[in-house]
Amino acid sequence: MNIYFQKTHQRAFGTYPLQGEELKKALTTALDVGYRAIDTAQMYGNEVEVGEALAASGIPREELCLTTKVHPDNFSEDRFMESVEKSLKDLQTDYVDVLLLHWPPIGGDIAPSLKLLEEAHKRGYARHIGVSNYTAQMMRDAKSIVSVPLVTNQVEFHPLLNQDTLLAAAAETGIPLSSYSSVARGEVFKYPDFADIGKPYGKSAGQVVLRWILQKGVSVNTMSTNPVNIDANLDIMDFSLSSVDMARIDALTATDYRIVGEDLVPWAPKWD
Ligand SMILES: NC(=O)c1ccc[n+]([C@@H]2O[C@H](COP(=O)([O-])OP(=O)(O)OC[C@H]3O[C@@H](n4cnc5c(N)ncnc54)[C@H](OP(=O)(O)O)[C@@H]3O)[C@@H](O)[C@H]2O)c1
Repeated sequence: MNIYFQKTHQRAFGTYPLQGEELKKALTTALDVGYRAIDTAQMYGNEVEVGEALAASGIPREELCLTTKVHPDNFSEDRFMESVEKSLKDLQTDYVDVLLLHWPPIGGDIAPSLKLLEEAHKRGYARHIGVSNYTAQMMRDAKSIVSVPLVTNQVEFHPLLNQDTLLAAAAETGIPLSSYSSVARGEVFKYPDFADIGKPYGKSAGQVVLRWILQKGVSVNTMSTNPVNIDANLDIMDFSLSSVDMARIDALTATDYRIVGEDLVPWAPKWD
């Protein structure tokens, strides 16, 4: 089974943009309430604190699903492995469960960085590999470049953005999506639909949003510093949205609200 679809790994705790003591506090709360999948990246500058919080938790390494991402600045032959070795050292581990390429290379050929990623897997630095912020065409190309399965394409995914093209590419390539900015950094809460839909299930607006993501076949990353939200974001496995409610939320994807656009991230590819 895909690592992100194991029950304890479907809901990961994201660590961007947390740093220092704030990160350790939030991550410790997350581990205490039951998160076992953790998402970080070289770009977040917090792998040392993530490593410290995980070590302090005493949770056996094999229970965790630790994801980190290689910074595009490290995609060259001379920097890639060294950067991954540093991530492992900072995270206080011999391997990560999933190693992702954080972004496609700027305007370049995706093959060299994918080959380096595959080499990191071969060396045992990562149990699984994947990508992030790839377009549908890049997903198709990547599948033919690497010989081991790519376990995810981590992308912006929430109910205010239509990602049907990527979902179709996921079905075609067998590379599932995982979500970031899952509650659109709070924007979803401006829409009363989610709280309305949640009432008969006894669930909050946020829980409805995250459940919709899971039912689209997408694993979830969420970040919160609020213990109530941290707990609620994990508590989404004991209900199922009806097809009517799913369709009502699907209609909101026409809003076309994108957080990670070209204005915020100039190196982003041309999105589908
Ligand atoms: N691969 C990539 O390029 C990429 C890009 C961006 C993010 N990510 C990953 O995805 C993770 C999550 O994405 P994100 O941080 O951009 O966005 P997000 O999870 O949509 O938004 C986080 C914000 O939403 C609030 N929030 C979370 N759960 C809530 C709830 N149940 N009710 C009300 N407010 C809630 C949090 O505030 P409170 O603290 O007050 O709860 C926080 O300010 C990141 O931490 C990172 O690991 C990856």
